[in-house]
Amino acid sequence: MQPTLDIPILDDLDQPKQVSVTVDGKLQVYLETYGCQMNVSDSEIVAAVLRENGYGLTHDLDAADVVLINTCAIRENAEQKVRRRLAELRSQKKKHNPDLKLGVLGCMAERLREKLLDQEKLVDLVVGPDAYRDLPNLLSAATDTGQAAVNVLLSREETYEDIKPVRYDTNGVSAFVSIMRGCDNMCSFCVVPFTRGRERSRPVVSILDECKSLVESGFKEVTVLGQNVNSYRDEKEGANVDFAELLYRISLISPDLRIRYSTSHPKDCSDALLHVHAERDNVCNYIHLPVQHGNTDMLHRMKRTYSREHYLDLVERARKIVPGVSFSTDIIAGFCDETEEEHQDTLSLMELVRYDHAYMFMYSERPDTYAARKFVDNVPEDLKKRRLNDIIQLQSGISLEKNQAEIGKEHIVLVEGTSRRSEDQLSGRTDTNKMTVFNRVDFSKGDYVKVRVTDCTSATLIAEPIGLV
Ligand code: 5AD
Ligand code: SF4
Repeated sequence: MQPTLDIPILDDLDQPKQVSVTVDGKLQVYLETYGCQMNVSDSEIVAAVLRENGYGLTHDLDAADVVLINTCAIRENAEQKVRRRLAELRSQKKKHNPDLKLGVLGCMAERLREKLLDQEKLVDLVVGPDAYRDLPNLLSAATDTGQAAVNVLLSREETYEDIKPVRYDTNGVSAFVSIMRGCDNMCSFCVVPFTRGRERSRPVVSILDECKSLVESGFKEVTVLGQNVNSYRDEKEGANVDFAELLYRISLISPDLRIRYSTSHPKDCSDALLHVHAERDNVCNYIHLPVQHGNTDMLHRMKRTYSREHYLDLVERARKIVPGVSFSTDIIAGFCDETEEEHQDTLSLMELVRYDHAYMFMYSERPDTYAARKFVDNVPEDLKKRRLNDIIQLQSGISLEKNQAEIGKEHIVLVEGTSRRSEDQLSGRTDTNKMTVFNRVDFSKGDYVKVRVTDCTSATLIAEPIGLV
């Protein structure tokens, strides 16, 4: 029997997901992914590299010869979660399988490097996000010599453009396509530029090829990914393709392929991009547009390169050009020196924009960042918590009201699978990225179904199906 790869994706931004694929091979690798969508996409590249080199992939931890943890370093609690998991795995290794190789991949590997090997003696492999091609060599070296192996070199070129990811997304409907890596923005709170290196874009031809082959395999939705996805630019070999042009070209591949993207920076949200949203039906009417804060001085301290007024103008322009567009955002509470008035500005900006959804965080100081070097993390923990709570309360009210305003309206939902609550219900998202559930009738995964919204919670629309589109 062939082993199955189940990769739990554990993320504080998202619910754990189970995914599976079947891969046979000499040594069995168990791969666990934490963090953002980009990490999920990277794990698909890791799985492809391993498969190419004869490794098998297993969901059964007890059957694994190698355990790889793809990690996140964005906030301290993300790192703590991974450390706890590593300690657990380490003790299992000691008790049950001393030959087990334990590896750390991704952002924590990059940040902690030798510390994981030397000081903490936690792992046998440390592999940064630009070194996945080297994984088979490193694994052989660690297995053959019993010594720890490490490659945390960051690259200015690596985009894994020629690697066909192993899609272990069981729904077969939506897929991630990574189009650029790294980030040059250096927001003062953010560790990503240090863990993922300089910005670089993947050639447009390889992206279009991947999207075409996804369509041929029956996929109906792609989410194109990058740390600063809308600063994408391919200028190599005579190409001059920016993000708006790239989305336009992807949208021409098939009218049945929906296109989303994440994560964008307001500075790169051009009118040309907004017009692509407006003109191309299959480019979704949804933009994740992280604001981070509602006060201009604070945005300056965060090195976000826009003011409150610029951001609000952008939202207004987007709503004019793309009628009905929905927005989500990221917000940080309790950044260095935040005053009560500044915090109130975040709340008032949220009231003005009325986001459909928000990812909300307490500031967590990250080593090496500009903020860690130049500012003091001086908002007390309980105040940070209270401010975050203000933000969460406000947003959940707004999300509910926005969903209530959808009652009676019609939407087209792409069915992603069975609803978590009931076998008799299907779930999928509207063009505007709202999770929707409705009775199965005789619809299936991958169908576009017209529905009418009948009820809602702050997180989900409840609808009645009208018919296939
Ligand atoms: N503390 C809290 N939140 C952070 N983010 C990034 N760095 C930090 C930090 N040091 C948040 C930002 C970003 C999201 C992915 O994580 O809101 O957009
Ligand atoms: Fe971090 Fe800012 Fe880059 Fe986003 S844009 S990854 S917040 S540095």
